[in-house]
Order: sequence, then structure tokens, then C-alpha cells
Amino acid sequence: MSPVRQINIAIIGAGGVGKCFLGQLEALVQRRPEPALALVYISTSKKAVYSKDYSPIGFSSAIASVVSSSEAPLNPSDLADYLAGASSKAIIVDNTSSQDVADAYPLFLSRGISIVTPNKKAFSGSYKLWQDIFNAAAQSGARVYHESSVGAGLPVISTLKDLVETGDEITKIEGVFSGTMSFLFNSFAPTSGSGGKWSAEVKKAKELGYTEPDPRDDLNGLDVARKLTILARLSGLEVESPTSFPVQSLIPKELESVASGDEFLEKLPAFDAQMEETKAAAEKEGKVVRFVGSIDVASKQVKVGLEKFDLSHPIAALKGSDNIISFYTKRYGSNPLIIQGAGAGGEVTAMGVTSDLLKVLSQLS
Ligand SMILES: NC(=O)c1ccc[n+]([C@@H]2O[C@H](COP(=O)([O-])OP(=O)(O)OC[C@H]3O[C@@H](n4cnc5c(N)ncnc54)[C@H](OP(=O)(O)O)[C@@H]3O)[C@@H](O)[C@H]2O)c1
Repeated sequence: MSPVRQINIAIIGAGGVGKCFLGQLEALVQRRPEPALALVYISTSKKAVYSKDYSPIGFSSAIASVVSSSEAPLNPSDLADYLAGASSKAIIVDNTSSQDVADAYPLFLSRGISIVTPNKKAFSGSYKLWQDIFNAAAQSGARVYHESSVGAGLPVISTLKDLVETGDEITKIEGVFSGTMSFLFNSFAPTSGSGGKWSAEVKKAKELGYTEPDPRDDLNGLDVARKLTILARLSGLEVESPTSFPVQSLIPKELESVASGDEFLEKLPAFDAQMEETKAAAEKEGKVVRFVGSIDVASKQVKVGLEKFDLSHPIAALKGSDNIISFYTKRYGSNPLIIQGAGAGGEVTAMGVTSDLLKVLSQLS
């Protein structure tokens, strides 16, 4: 009987998504004993658990172990040495939103270490980093997957890759890519016609936990721009960065530099008239306003901002905080391929990461 093959797993980041991923990993190991998955490293920004002899860390005790650890995390270069020094292949699961960790992907990949991640930073940063990542993977044979970097667990990236790799021609991608923006506009300008004041909806979204601690981090449009950058690049466009195309910020100029999120919320009601006007203009045409991202592949135009939609349009009819992504392609003609559902949440985001892990496992020989 041949020995059971082992793959080493290193988890960087153990917050909302990281904890859900650990739970899914534990269940996966029980369902699929082979290859044997050994958790040999786990870290937060300040602490880490690992041992020189690669002793597996218990899945169910991993969080408690990292919380009580007095060990500092390894820097990327030492982590690469540690993982590459083992006799088993390794996969890094980056559950952070760290640019520093993302910048180290070419190093990890060049050492034969595969990566799965919901972190957008590596794929939406400079175009050079994007090229370095995929060149390093191609040279070493290590794999890199990032399904949850757009639309959380929704199969957005895998679908786009399938369309491109099977020879379909993408003409346009359009959608609502932010759960926060979805929730805000579905409440501010519902298709039923009512809706609250803009500032009140932003406040409510914050109280319900739909926004970042400072809502300006959602309203500046950068998160959506990062997702568009990733999809545009996968569609073949050499987008330089998420700030290299038009992105409409919903932060009034006067409130861009106020000191805190709380002060921003306090002062926002003074600017309600601007958003009311936008909403009324759409209503006059029998439409609603939504915050969308679009990529016109033929004209190479990428943009993020407010658009008006007929009430019967799928984007207008979205509910709650759902995302919707429409792929217009040569094969699908005028009826786009549409993916819709929750675009945030620990469990669904971790599902995308776990399914990426399964892909890597099936490809590592
Ligand atoms: N949550 C969602 O619904 C969702 C949806 C789609 C994509 N994502 C993406 O998933 C990733 C994780 O999101 P989350 O909600 O789990 O975030 P989170 O709760 O803030 O957790 C982030 C974790 O990463 C750790 N970390 C940060 N910088 C690090 C570093 N340099 N080295 C090691 N660990 C580091 C943090 O450690 P400390 O606790 O010490 O700071 C924390 O454990 C992000 O990239 C996010 O954009 C999340």
C-alpha cells in the first residue's frame, strides 16, 4: 500500500473569513482523508503558531492556540523558507486584506507554494504585480486561485475564466459588486417608489453592520474598482490600477477630510439634497438609480458609478445586499449570463476559498 500523500496548509489571517475557512477545512478533512492535509502554520497580524518539525496544529484548537501564542508571525521570506523546507508541498491560504502579504505572492509561488485567497489586493494592485504573480506560477507549476476576491463565494471568476478559455467573446460585464452599495440603493431608491433619506440609509446600513467602520471606505467606490480591475484583466484588458479609470465617489468633497466616520455621518444630512436630486431625475424617467461597475471590452472602457435602470431590469430588481453580475458574450447574445446572490459573509466567502483549495489539491501531483 502506498503511503498517504500529505499537503501542508499555512493560514495567514484568522478573522471572520479565516475562522469560517478553518471550520470548513476541518469538515473537509473528515470527508476526504486523502491527501492528508496538515495545518503547519497559522497567524494573525501579531501572532503565529508553527513548529520547526511541522507538527500538525489541531484544526479545532488552532484559533485558541494563535490567540494564546507568544510567537510573532514569520516575515514572507522566512515563511517561504519554512514551507519550502518541508518534504510535502504547501498551500498558503491568505485570509487577510494585507498588501504586504499580497506583494509576497510572486516569492511564494516561485518557491513552489500554491495560494488560495479572498484577498483582492494582489490582483487589483499594479499590473506588474499581476504579471509577476502569473509568471511565477507558470514557471514553478504552483497554483493560484482567488474566486472569493469578487462576489465572495459566487462563481464569478471561474465562470469568466470558463467563458474566456472556451473561446467565447466577452463584450460587456456589468453589475452591482458591493453588498453595501446594493443594500443602500435598494433601500434608498426601491422599485416600489418610497425609500428613506440618503444619510438615514447610510446610518442604518452602518448600524446593521453592512458598512466598514468608516462608511467612506465603501462610498469612495474603490472596493468596486478593485473588483472591476480583476474582471477586466481576466477579460484581457491591461488595466494599470483601480485608479486608472473613472470611479465616482459618493463622498461629498466637503466631507472627504473630516476626522472620523462618526463625524462624517453627523454631517452627511446636509448633503441629502444632492442624492435626492439624482433619485428624482431617475424617477422622472421611470427608472431607479444604482451604483454599478461596467467593463466594455471592445472599447476598453471600465467605469464605476451611478447609473439609471428601468424598473424591469435585473439590476433594479435586486434585493437586500445581494450582488448581481451580468456577462454579455457572443454566445449568450442579448440575454446575458447572470450570477446573483450574497456577495459577502464569512461562510460564503470561505466556501469560495475552500473550493479553490479543492481545485489546487486536484492539480498538485
Ligand atoms: N468578510 C466578507 O464578507 C468578505 C467577502 C469577500 C472577500 N473578503 C475578503 O476576505 C479577506 C478577509 O476578510 P475578513 O472579513 O475575514 O477580515 P478580518 O475579519 O478583518 O480578518 C483579517 C485577518 O487577517 C489578519 N491579518 C491582517 N494583516 C495581516 C498580516 N500582515 N499578516 C497576518 N495576518 C494579518 C488579521 O489579524 P489581526 O486580528 O491581528 O488584525 C485578521 O486575523 C479580506 O481580504 C476581505 O476583503 C471578505
